[in-house]
Amino acid sequence: MDRNDVRKLYSIGNAKWYDPLRPVYSKLFLSKAEGDLANFLKDNLDESKTVLELGCGTGVNLEKIYSLNLEFKKYLGLDFSPDMLKIAKNKFRNNSIVEFRETDITELDDIKEQFDIIICIIVISHLQSRPDFVNKSQRLLNKNGNFFLILHTKPEWYINFWLSPFIWLSRMSLISDDEIKKFENIKVINKYSGNLITSIEIYR
Ligand SMILES: C[S@@+](CC[C@H](N)C(=O)[O-])C[C@H]1O[C@@H](n2cnc3c(N)ncnc32)[C@H](O)[C@@H]1O
Repeated sequence: MDRNDVRKLYSIGNAKWYDPLRPVYSKLFLSKAEGDLANFLKDNLDESKTVLELGCGTGVNLEKIYSLNLEFKKYLGLDFSPDMLKIAKNKFRNNSIVEFRETDITELDDIKEQFDIIICIIVISHLQSRPDFVNKSQRLLNKNGNFFLILHTKPEWYINFWLSPFIWLSRMSLISDDEIKKFENIKVINKYSGNLITSIEIYR
């Protein structure tokens, strides 16, 4: 996907449409994968852990961490949309262990820290070279660190047919099984919603 088109999508109306629509999309397609995310966070997160979120958007997954009453040492959220980040920053003003940075997540060479947990939720269908992105991002994991992703993947043909206008409007290109086979260190993979949604756990 062309990154300027993706950035433009998330600047429409200053991204104010995103938070009202996100729970509806969750309910329709993401509930099981988000259940996996909640279990992953409960199993792996505690007050000693640092968290990196790639493509954090408006911070809904950080809100989820807080709603689960989970503690963490530090959270860094990266996104290239200033409008999405502005909403995220407003939600977590005055929170000294939370930081948001405007960054293109396909250019992570400037990030020198490593993290215990990385999450990347419904983002990588916007990117090109997805196996490359997933494998390179793993260098940001501490030893024994864990990486959790939710992806939009190629669904059964009858779902693909009905969803194709939405997928085009969303500036996504659905991820194929052949691409997923190139992801290194996958430990758990689950498919939901007629294969449209896949959750993946990577353990380093
Ligand atoms: C569907 S939203 C998901 C936001 C959040 N992860 C969530 O679960 O609600 C996709 C996000 O990925 C961001 N994004 C897409 N391509 C990106 C890139 N190359 N670098 C940084 N952020 C990117 C968009 O700006 C947008 O905020």
